Amino acid sequence: MEKKLRELKNRFFSELKTVRDDDFLAELKIKYLGRKGELASILRGVKDLAVEEKPRVGQLANEIKKELLEVFGRTEAIIKKSAIRPRNFDSSLPGQRREIGHLHPSTIVQEEIEEAFAKLGFSIFDGPQLESDYYNFTALNIPEDHPARDTQDTFWVEGKNLLRTHTSNLQVRMLEKYGAPFRGIFPGRVFRYESTDASHEHTFYQTEGLMVDRNINIGNLIAVMQSLLSAVFHKKVNVRLRPGFFPFVEPGFEMDIECFICEGDGCSVCKQSGWVELMPCGLVHPGVLKAGGLDPEEYSGFAFGLGLTRLVMMKYRINDIRLLQSGDLRFLKQF
Ligand code: PHE
Repeated sequence: MEKKLRELKNRFFSELKTVRDDDFLAELKIKYLGRKGELASILRGVKDLAVEEKPRVGQLANEIKKELLEVFGRTEAIIKKSAIRPRNFDSSLPGQRREIGHLHPSTIVQEEIEEAFAKLGFSIFDGPQLESDYYNFTALNIPEDHPARDTQDTFWVEGKNLLRTHTSNLQVRMLEKYGAPFRGIFPGRVFRYESTDASHEHTFYQTEGLMVDRNINIGNLIAVMQSLLSAVFHKKVNVRLRPGFFPFVEPGFEMDIECFICEGDGCSVCKQSGWVELMPCGLVHPGVLKAGGLDPEEYSGFAFGLGLTRLVMMKYRINDIRLLQSGDLRFLKQF
């Protein structure tokens, strides 16, 4: 009987080594330690033993039972604790790929733009999003009661402050601080008091550009923009100018690009016109140069307000602006 007990123990340990999951471990427990298990059936024979043998065998059986229970407990704990599910483990499979974060599409395009402008000698500036009425409007030739204020619905904050409605708020700040010649872009977040739909958001991104020097003209503006667009779209993009009104530029334009989808043939994106509106721009208004402390007789410049968010939507063909700030991983993981 003692031999049987030792044998049982050995068999148990060699079977235990093959355990791959908790189901199998449970089966093993029933097989050896269950009420109708192997140990129980051996113990049932104890009563037929000679009296002097009973205590010794009984003690051995109890020791083995205790040991097996202990080992079971430990094995169970290990299997439970290890995050690895050993079930059907195949060591030849490639490892699980861990997901790492990545840049937001707006950041990707912003960085491309920054890089393209840096190559043209532009510096990159940041500035306040909480702005005064003065820099957002008045200094830009938009005095109080000017109707142009109504074209940019504004979030007003106590005390004549506001959330900037455009990155143009930095034009006069930069001229005051750095004077001329000046070459810079100011990418950043802007805010409009607007109800949202697929093409409107209360918060979006623009990239302002400002170049001031002697003899700056529209030809300079077009050349700079073409170089930028080929960096973003990785091909030459045709542009055209239409007149546009903004109080802080004179003359003012809307710059269109040839439709990047149909390449000018006409499609639903460009409403069959072959062109898509890209950005407002123009030559800096003399009043703005003055506000910045410069003599408009001596200096001239161009400014543009690139709709960064719009550009992102065009580049990746995103049809709902709200997706960009939704934080929805199903959307974000596509970039
Ligand atoms: N700030 C203007 C807007 O947001 C765009 C603009 C910038 C127009 C620079 C001309 C020059 O609508």
